[in-house]
Amino acid sequence: MSGETTGPKFAGASRRTLLLALLIGLAAGVLSAVLIFAPSAESPKVQTAGKALVGGPFTLTEPSGKRVTEKDFAGRPLLVYFGFTHCPDVCPAGLQVIAAALDQLGDKAKDMTAVFITVDPDRDTPEVLGKYVASFHKDIVALSGSPEDIAAVTKAYRVFVKKVPDPSSPNDYSVDHSSFMYLMDGNGEYRRHFLHSVDAAELADVLAKAIDNPAAAPDA
Ligand code: NI
Repeated sequence: MSGETTGPKFAGASRRTLLLALLIGLAAGVLSAVLIFAPSAESPKVQTAGKALVGGPFTLTEPSGKRVTEKDFAGRPLLVYFGFTHCPDVCPAGLQVIAAALDQLGDKAKDMTAVFITVDPDRDTPEVLGKYVASFHKDIVALSGSPEDIAAVTKAYRVFVKKVPDPSSPNDYSVDHSSFMYLMDGNGEYRRHFLHSVDAAELADVLAKAIDNPAAAPDA
């Protein structure tokens, strides 16, 4: 504002007009700040300035021994879930939800891919993981790999993984891990995530929308 140039020759009404304009300007500034910052406050912390920090290139091994990368799944929605075969309850629950969602999608499920990536490559060889995942649903793709492969993909997806001793069996161990499902779009960009306890119908609904509109904005 240029209030200092108005001088005393301006009438009181003009001063009031200037003051009003100043206040409107301030209000507009506050409103702009609210509009700019409010959406980011509601977005997942994994996103900054529209560019998500979840996901990225990977190379993993299918049960057949075939090596695959993120490019093999490009062009269609990809649901990514991490876990391990010795998981007592969380991973099986999440896999059951994914299996139920795929069944609800029916033929539509052919236009997306769901993958289960192990966080325990030492025990979950491609073959072991493949049999385990197939017991939940034939269309969920089981992906294992070397410890280095798994370290890289869990880092890319920001998955927390920690081996912990199993108190009931001294030679055994468990693996603490975060248990989100990540929905990536056809370009490999993060779209949103779900808790492993998400309702299967809700998951199927979001997946159906992603299949119908692969170019939709994140969180759509
Ligand atoms: Ni688990």
